[in-house]
Amino acid sequence: MGPQAAQSQKITSEMTMSEQADHLEEQMMHDLDKIITKSVFSNLTDGVVGMEGGAALQAKNPGKYFNMGADPRLPPMPEKPTLLDYFKNRFASTNHLLQSGALAIKNGHSEKVVLACLLHDIAVVSFIRCDHGYWGAQMIAPYVDEEVSEAIRMHQALRFFPDESMGYAYPDMYRKYFGDDYKPEPYIVEEYKRARDSKYYETSRLICVNDIYAFDPNAKVNLDQFEDIIGRNFRQPKEGLGWDHSPSAHMWRTIMWPTRFL
Ligand SMILES: [Fe+2]
Ligand SMILES: [Fe+2]
Repeated sequence: MGPQAAQSQKITSEMTMSEQADHLEEQMMHDLDKIITKSVFSNLTDGVVGMEGGAALQAKNPGKYFNMGADPRLPPMPEKPTLLDYFKNRFASTNHLLQSGALAIKNGHSEKVVLACLLHDIAVVSFIRCDHGYWGAQMIAPYVDEEVSEAIRMHQALRFFPDESMGYAYPDMYRKYFGDDYKPEPYIVEEYKRARDSKYYETSRLICVNDIYAFDPNAKVNLDQFEDIIGRNFRQPKEGLGWDHSPSAHMWRTIMWPTRFL
């Protein structure tokens, strides 16, 4: 597309937000030398069941190939990324995780508990909210002690159930977010019952206890203070996180290269 054509596509204030977003997306696609596509999942989260076919998209972008690697719009990742690189370049928000990890240190918990607190919501900040405990646990399972991944998986259910003996009440924030009459679905209730019998119950419960629900956006915790704990408790693959062949490497790769065509 020449500069004139681009001009004629100018975003105007009369457009709705979603029209502006569509135009911006369209324009960015034209300005890049690769065709960047949206995955079906990203459409689903916009309330649309649909995808644009490859041939139609290429017809709209003559002479261009589909993106088969890094998305040039996103911060570049090093050749052999570490967990810290994902924290810095892919996690949309890290304050909650850092604050939870810092609270666990302050409360004198073991390194595994601190790591579990630090990583408990990585799925939310990098990927997905729905069932984030399960996704997060799978992402890290090949690299951490079972205690850490299992605790993260189970916090998905435990956070909805109080345990006063461990100092965990049902969060006020959930009442505010989900309403007074919200009841967890049966699969969560069943998972909760299983979690109660797990040998990692206590660790998982400690994630809930150190989960800071009253986020203080001004309290800044530095990632550096966790470097040693991560170094000792997270088995960083030598090929780079995503380039190793663990059962969850593809999840990390997808977060690294979310618009790879296939
Ligand atoms: Fe969570
Ligand atoms: Fe959390």
